[in-house]
Amino acid sequence: MKKKQINIAVVGLGQVGNYLLNELNTKKKDIEIKTGKKINIEAISARNVNKKRKFKIKKEIFFKNPLEILKTKKIDILFEVIGLSDGMSKKIVETSLKKKIHVITPNKALIAKHGDYLGKLAEKNKVNLEFEASVGGGIPILRTLKDGLATNKIKKVIGILNGTCNYILSEMEKSKDSFFNVLKKAQMLGFAEPSNPKFDINGYDSLAKVRILSALAFNKLVSKNNCLMEGIENIELKDIQIANQLNLRIKLLGITELINNQLFERVHPCLVGKDSYIGNINGVMNAVILRGKPIGETALQGEGAGPGPTSSALLSDLVSILRGNIKYPFGIPFKKRKSIRNYDKSNYINSLYLRFEVKDKPGVLSKISKKLARYKISVKRLIQTPDKKNNKATIVIITHKTFEKNIIKCINSIKKKEYLIKAPTFIRVGNFNEN
Ligand SMILES: NC(=O)c1ccc[n+]([C@@H]2O[C@H](COP(=O)([O-])OP(=O)(O)OC[C@H]3O[C@@H](n4cnc5c(N)ncnc54)[C@H](OP(=O)(O)O)[C@@H]3O)[C@@H](O)[C@H]2O)c1
Repeated sequence: MKKKQINIAVVGLGQVGNYLLNELNTKKKDIEIKTGKKINIEAISARNVNKKRKFKIKKEIFFKNPLEILKTKKIDILFEVIGLSDGMSKKIVETSLKKKIHVITPNKALIAKHGDYLGKLAEKNKVNLEFEASVGGGIPILRTLKDGLATNKIKKVIGILNGTCNYILSEMEKSKDSFFNVLKKAQMLGFAEPSNPKFDINGYDSLAKVRILSALAFNKLVSKNNCLMEGIENIELKDIQIANQLNLRIKLLGITELINNQLFERVHPCLVGKDSYIGNINGVMNAVILRGKPIGETALQGEGAGPGPTSSALLSDLVSILRGNIKYPFGIPFKKRKSIRNYDKSNYINSLYLRFEVKDKPGVLSKISKKLARYKISVKRLIQTPDKKNNKATIVIITHKTFEKNIIKCINSIKKKEYLIKAPTFIRVGNFNEN
């Protein structure tokens, strides 16, 4: 950028946009020292000018329709902080890039869905499209992949990518309270969306981040594959407590890896050792472990959400643009990024935790054991806890590594049996010491 004064637009003044605006205003001098550029907030936009916001906004630069900004103002860099995968978010980013305006966004839904198209558009128009804040909040994970580890061959990425889920799981363990009650608490504390926390809880948010990580880690197009996605909505306090007795913890993990040059992306709850690195990432914290050559294993952790950490990543994108050079949005030219074959998830082999709630009567355990044997599932550990008062028992089985498809067939063959009180629970057990 040759110009000394850079005009900025901030579109979206919600939790992140409003905080970001305040950061931009208070850090102008710092940004000038670091980049040699003076920033000027030329325009801001939201739906409602009069909404109560944490920081004061200047009404004279406010636009209800962000597209009007591009018609009437000379903007160099635009922040899209609305947050939809389509609609105005896509429109404003697309229009800005076409008008050769650099774009910065924390919007993982937009990048996971339209990142390839928008990235190509940015390249064509020789401007930057930066989205560091879309994964891991304040953790500089995307820049680490694009720059810090640029020449490494990344094989696997494992992450706790959703602070809401991690908070809920940690808090259930700590307070011995139910999923439902802890979710309510998370909403009250602002760690979960008050109206619709579904996309955090069901794994959708983590999966969008996994797709972005895959594209950068493996230099491929963003996958549109039908992935394994399970959230934490069915995790019961009982499983957390049993895990605790087994020196394990349940975490919602996002994992992406290449197996025989096929992409295997997944999000699901996973039992991990309480003494492992990932087992000790608690509360709203996020963490990402990268495995590659020659780096070996690298881990980054930090606050994964919230306006502060998100604004930190947005400002790092700004500083990167102001320092100059047009960078490929996904690290390498669009035409070098190919799509990648999807790994057949029915080949997934795992150790599993199975919990059966059964009627307490003779022969039930032997019936379950026979079924497991029939599907070639061998038992590593078995814990039976009778509840004589209620005439029932809990049977927990940790299996040796087995094909998941066998477990699913086995569960389906058992789930209607009269001795079962409810459908069995199954949770994957992770062993992250192996490759
Ligand atoms: N919140 C976090 O901790 C966090 C963390 C990481 C990433 N992110 C990402 O940051 C983005 C924003 O999240 P947020 O939590 O700040 O969302 P939010 O609080 O819901 O704010 C959305 C903002 O967009 C404005 N808006 C909606 N439609 C608009 C339109 N057509 N034209 C102009 N403005 C419009 C809203 O206007 P009104 O104010 O008038 O309603 C509001 O200011 C999302 O992509 C999210 O995934 C958020």
